[in-house]
Amino acid sequence: MALHVVNHPIAEHVLTDLRKRKTTAAEYRSLCRRIGAILLVKAFENLELKSVTVGTPLGDCEGKVLVSNVVLVPILRAGLALLSPALELLPEAMVGYFGLQRSEEAMQIECYYQKLPPMAGADVFILDPMLASGCSAQFAIQRLQDLHPKSISFVSILAAPEGIRRLMDEFPTVNIFTVAVDKELDGRNFIIPGLGDFGDRFHGTL
Ligand code: URA
Repeated sequence: MALHVVNHPIAEHVLTDLRKRKTTAAEYRSLCRRIGAILLVKAFENLELKSVTVGTPLGDCEGKVLVSNVVLVPILRAGLALLSPALELLPEAMVGYFGLQRSEEAMQIECYYQKLPPMAGADVFILDPMLASGCSAQFAIQRLQDLHPKSISFVSILAAPEGIRRLMDEFPTVNIFTVAVDKELDGRNFIIPGLGDFGDRFHGTL
């Protein structure tokens, strides 16, 4: 497992705007496309290529094409914010979904929706903008590992030390990509200082 903190001036600038209390849902969506593009370019950096011959208008030369079988797995609903920037970069990718929620009584993760394409041999990118306690991430990674993908990466905009620690302890081969690591979680598992409820802010349901 490796933690990749994406240090990029535009990503940091955009994250500051995402944090602002007064940012509207329309602004939020546009900021997510910008920060998502930077984050995902980094997350996709090690996809496999093969050499091909390409005919240009003036002759043949060697080119490279992607051979990775990529599966994007947004965790509903906040993860949808990273799906369109990911598909802009990889329009051929397959998409699977997890709908996860925490049960009130048992405080356990429940999966209310799952739809996954074939995973064997795939490079899987779990999309969830907030890595907080890491419980949903842990659930999703465990389910995916049973399906034998080639690699699993977890892509978030913001992460808490608690979630990072959980994933690092449990999954030594999974990569985490994030723009920033904040201080801690509060009693409701919100990231502090964070940016509030990401799903509500992105979907305009505050
Ligand atoms: N999910 C959110 O939307 N915000 C947090 O701070 C943590 C998890």
